[in-house]
Amino acid sequence: MMIPTLSTVEDSQKMYQWFEQMRQTLPVWLDEESKCWHVFRYDDVNTVITDYQRFSSERRIQREVIAATAHSNNERPPRTGRSIIAMDPPQHRQYRNLVTSAFTPRAIDKLRGRVAQITQELLDKAAAGGGMDFANDIAYPLPTIVIAEMLGVPVSDRPLFQTWADGLLRRQLSDAEVFRSAEEQRNNPELQRLGRVFEEMSDYFERMLEERKREPRDDMMSALLQAEVDGQHLSMDDTISFCTLLLLAGHVTTTNLLGQAIRCFDEHPDALAQLYKEPELIPSAVEEVLRYASPVWRLIRTTKEEVTLSGITIPKDAAVFAWLASANRDPQQFTAPERFDITRTPNKHVAFGHGIHFCIGAPLSRMEAAVALPIILKQLPNLHVDWSGAQLFEGRFLFGFKHLPITF
Ligand code: HEM
Repeated sequence: MMIPTLSTVEDSQKMYQWFEQMRQTLPVWLDEESKCWHVFRYDDVNTVITDYQRFSSERRIQREVIAATAHSNNERPPRTGRSIIAMDPPQHRQYRNLVTSAFTPRAIDKLRGRVAQITQELLDKAAAGGGMDFANDIAYPLPTIVIAEMLGVPVSDRPLFQTWADGLLRRQLSDAEVFRSAEEQRNNPELQRLGRVFEEMSDYFERMLEERKREPRDDMMSALLQAEVDGQHLSMDDTISFCTLLLLAGHVTTTNLLGQAIRCFDEHPDALAQLYKEPELIPSAVEEVLRYASPVWRLIRTTKEEVTLSGITIPKDAAVFAWLASANRDPQQFTAPERFDITRTPNKHVAFGHGIHFCIGAPLSRMEAAVALPIILKQLPNLHVDWSGAQLFEGRFLFGFKHLPITF
């Protein structure tokens, strides 16, 4: 059994066929090559991502990247910043609480006007010629500008963020390589390359944060510098880690949601026609896009003890991949899961995860999609994807488009 490789749009269909086969025949599967476990059914995926007592979020990959980079750059000690997505309780809650107020529905609601304005500006710039690359011209810049403004980093540095996101997504490591020991990773050029991208991002945020220390502003970087956990300010490395997580998690994922929405509407013209007639269905259509074409393929956890799922026992200290995209097509949970149904209720998808690590940015990305899509659909009637030029992001973490040419 091999995990399908993903480079073309057709490959993603094969991926979904593979999920179906795995849910039926090998719902909890050990990949002998990488020694990683894979979980495909909705109930099992839900257990893996929510049961933090038995499945830890602490990451080895990050530590190993740091170790590899430290080896290639002996001039200074490796950074030790931690990130909430890779923390367990009780620390996780303390750190997460530092940013939740910026993402409450009330706080997000205030950004609606700005999101509409950015969408309009991007459309005006891109739509002049009758065609555009939707990914590059709208889906990428929109969430990037929004999260950059929230954090307080200059929007003019967007090309830099794009280089980092591309650099991190263009990951050529197999699961087997990722889960080798730090010792074995020392000379892995791909890990060293990733380490350099992390270093560049970290240096950038360090400069920005030093500026905010001298001159605080009304932005998330300044708020994080003032925040305290147990009466102590965060270390510079932890603050940098928080900022890089928010910047990265805050843009490429939503880029994928917007791109996947356009793909789904192109493939389902009846749904699109219904949306033109009943624009109030947009929020429910967004939920269906999240389920049907989940922007995040899979999440990773490590077992803290032996665990049995679907009758199969996973040992302690094993890496487990929970395939969100497969869970979201499980017929045990969703009626006719292969049908794209913009009126689907209930729709308890796990595209944003579940439990204590549930996506902090969910209200933001839902709002961005709900505000931007009606403007886009109204101003680009007869929208069609030119599939000959479409290109997916590589890798097995995110499912979205790097290029999505459209005509209208
Ligand atoms: C966590 C998906 C947008 C920030 C997560 C998780 C998923 C996810 C699946 C759970 C990770 C886990 O359990 O290990 C998505 C999708 C998005 C999106 C599909 C867009 C469609 C955003 C945005 C932000 C964001 C706009 C804004 C800053 C975060 C953060 C976490 C997270 C900080 C970590 C939460 C924690 O560990 O407690 N996201 N995300 N995400 N997301 Fe998102």
